[in-house]
Amino acid sequence: MLQRRSVLNAPVIRTKLPGPNASKLIASDEKFTSPSYTRAYPLAVKRGEGAVIEDVDGNLFLDFTAGIAVCATGHCHPDVVNAIQHQSERLLHMSGTDFYYGPQCELARKLAEIAPGDSAKRVFFTNSGAESVEAALKLARYHTGRQQVIAFFGAFHGRTMGALSLTGSKAIQRQGFGAMLPGVTHTEYPNCYRMPAGSTPESHMKDCLDRIELLLFRKTVPPEDVAAIVVEPIQGEGGYIVPPPEFHQRLSEIAHKHGILYIVDEVQAGMGRTGKMFAIDHWGVEPDIVCLAKGLASGMPLGAIVARSEIMDWPPGAHASTFGGNPISCVAALETIRLLEEELIENSAKVGEYLMTRLGALQQRHPLIGDVRGKGLMIGIELVRDRNTKERAVEEAEELVQNCFLKGLLLLGCGENSVRLSPPLVIDEQQAETAIAIIDAALGEMESA
Ligand SMILES: Cc1ncc(COP(=O)(O)O)c(C=O)c1O
Repeated sequence: MLQRRSVLNAPVIRTKLPGPNASKLIASDEKFTSPSYTRAYPLAVKRGEGAVIEDVDGNLFLDFTAGIAVCATGHCHPDVVNAIQHQSERLLHMSGTDFYYGPQCELARKLAEIAPGDSAKRVFFTNSGAESVEAALKLARYHTGRQQVIAFFGAFHGRTMGALSLTGSKAIQRQGFGAMLPGVTHTEYPNCYRMPAGSTPESHMKDCLDRIELLLFRKTVPPEDVAAIVVEPIQGEGGYIVPPPEFHQRLSEIAHKHGILYIVDEVQAGMGRTGKMFAIDHWGVEPDIVCLAKGLASGMPLGAIVARSEIMDWPPGAHASTFGGNPISCVAALETIRLLEEELIENSAKVGEYLMTRLGALQQRHPLIGDVRGKGLMIGIELVRDRNTKERAVEEAEELVQNCFLKGLLLLGCGENSVRLSPPLVIDEQQAETAIAIIDAALGEMESA
């Protein structure tokens, strides 16, 4: 059964925000929880259903974050919940590293089958996006016997030391953490909204690729020493930046010419979010390794890497994880994939297109909107103070997120001055319209202030 719409109608804001119960919870959280967490606004959640979040004071919000692009099938999809309940009565844990059990085996087979490209695949299970990136990095080094890695400015790959070394998004994420993993070189990711004057998307893309081939490979990073190029198909945290149509094809050709593995981090963009199962499918490229997490299990912690079988050649003991491939997470993932395949990928493409059209109309009326971009339900809105100079409207992007929260729409920022729309893939056009009306009103207030 597909849960298209929540029975709850959102938004309904009954208290001032944060309400009394949220204020109490937040006061306690501030005392005992790590101050490193970045809370965008004071939302204290009680429950979720479809694309609706109820807070601890009974306020209802329309969720266009999906818990940072995680709850692909909506909050608490009944089929996912049923699968979790059923599995939890049978086996909570046994460690797929040491023993065999059905859900992990079945999910590995399914992921191997749906991963981009025709080559045979094998799967390693993790608990998070960062762990998937760590696993990919280790496998690439192990398989190639090479040390160096190329990653991109603006990329986000996670916060454990290996993944953090590949992350090139915000300095605060690295500041104070000392030396990163040696052998990582960052280079420019094509951004067609901010390309140098006089460039076309094609010439800008070529400049970015030439920088690797004609500069890095010739001056500082011999290609024979490079294990992998690690790339997001669409940059997520970096600002929802969609590269030009030929980019991944051309970049992967450069990689393969030199025996370098092409690792695609689909942690945020994967699992139906862009209107195809994997975002890289829009570019028709078969990566050597795909990193997954977030949307994979509708909110249960699970990550995976899917690699070409000939590449996943590490021996027993080389890499493992106690919790990776947890049986409950695996059944949630199997149910998630079924729902994606049956209807939600198509819905993501359809409602995503609708949202893009409606946002295009908003852009006509709101000078603050510099750019609208994305695929499926992975959509970024970049705010600028001046469309000619493209001066970044950093505070305004933050203000838009805050204003929308007060009006009952949950959004998150990305990049320096962009706002991302990453709702659960169950939303319909009516909910998209509600979000548009709130963004319209919030921008209107900001522009007339
Ligand atoms: C593309 C990408 N890779 C990796 C990660 C890290 O995932 P996690 O927070 O589960 O470690 C993220 C998280 O936002 C991400 O967007």
